[in-house]
Amino acid sequence: MSVDSSVGGIQSLVDEALVEIGGAESSRDIEQARVRFLGKKSALTKQLKRIGSLPTQERRAFGQAVNDAKQLLAEKIAERAVQLDRWEQDAALTSGWVDVSLAGRRAGTGCLHPVSRTIRRIHDIFRRLGFDVAEGPEIEDDYHNFEALNIPPDHPARAMHDTFYVEPGVVLRTHTSPVQIRYLKSHPPPIQVIAPGRVYRSDSDATHTPMFHQVEGLVIDKDIHLGHLKWTLETFLKAFFEREDIVLRLRPSYFPFTEPSVEVDVGWQDVGGRRVLGGDGDAPGHGWMELLGSGMVNRRVIEFAGLDPEQWQGFAFGVGVDRLAMLKYGMDDLRAFFDGDRRWLDHYGFSPFDQPTLSAGVGAKA
Ligand code: PHE
Repeated sequence: MSVDSSVGGIQSLVDEALVEIGGAESSRDIEQARVRFLGKKSALTKQLKRIGSLPTQERRAFGQAVNDAKQLLAEKIAERAVQLDRWEQDAALTSGWVDVSLAGRRAGTGCLHPVSRTIRRIHDIFRRLGFDVAEGPEIEDDYHNFEALNIPPDHPARAMHDTFYVEPGVVLRTHTSPVQIRYLKSHPPPIQVIAPGRVYRSDSDATHTPMFHQVEGLVIDKDIHLGHLKWTLETFLKAFFEREDIVLRLRPSYFPFTEPSVEVDVGWQDVGGRRVLGGDGDAPGHGWMELLGSGMVNRRVIEFAGLDPEQWQGFAFGVGVDRLAMLKYGMDDLRAFFDGDRRWLDHYGFSPFDQPTLSAGVGAKA
């Protein structure tokens, strides 16, 4: 190989390398080009090793040419690497770009479900009336759910409850009334207690869900009569609905665990096509709505609890919490309560910091 052809060969190597360096599109490409054209196994390095075999007069020019080529390529590669690096950084910044001037998205803080809110309000009102709050198990035995409440096996009243059986003798409680029995057995009278909680019945339509909520009320003392029941419910409902014009109507009814039993209706009036509680239920344009079951505690239940019915009497009531919530806050489909739809909750829910406020008179009356 002559000197000229060697130098020319170097020139064509340089040309080839420059094309490749200029076409490198990523820092990986450019690193590969560096290894290929300047690395230990590169053609240029091999040329340098050949230098000793050249005639002395050619060595200088050849060595100079190879070194110039190496230097040129090293510069071009470094330049291109810096350029590619900047582009890559720009691309990364653009794709992950955050507009810090945009208004932030609010994190959902969650809210209090209307059922929870309603139970809090009920607690609040009854606590002011001097009531204790109790809880009982949702998986209940037949004895507490039925028998001790004077509903023996084969009693037709069992058909009123579409009971979920967990196993023979064990049910999902169909009402909160078993808490009456549990409380009676564990607390000496006088007793004033409410017991809120979930109850279960195999039933489902716009106003019934297989799980719903009740609040049980129980008062046991001496000389208790229906007038106490009526006053207590009236006071509670006035405070709950924040209306002084709530009117109650007691209708004879039947529950095995109360005698006499009364169904309590509440008066409503038509306001712009909507039934609003309050007002005289008998007047034109007004009406009565069935609200809850109650009565004087059956003496057999008092006996079951080991108390003397000649000495102790009382009243009990059971009211649907979800129904109270629907009436107060104006929902018409109970099923939506338990769908967990955020839009519904955002609409009907309450700030957890928003404590129930009650008219000041309630506590004073008690
Ligand atoms: N437990 C009854 C029901 O769920 C309601 C009730 C409670 C009736 C207390 C009378 C006394 O239907």
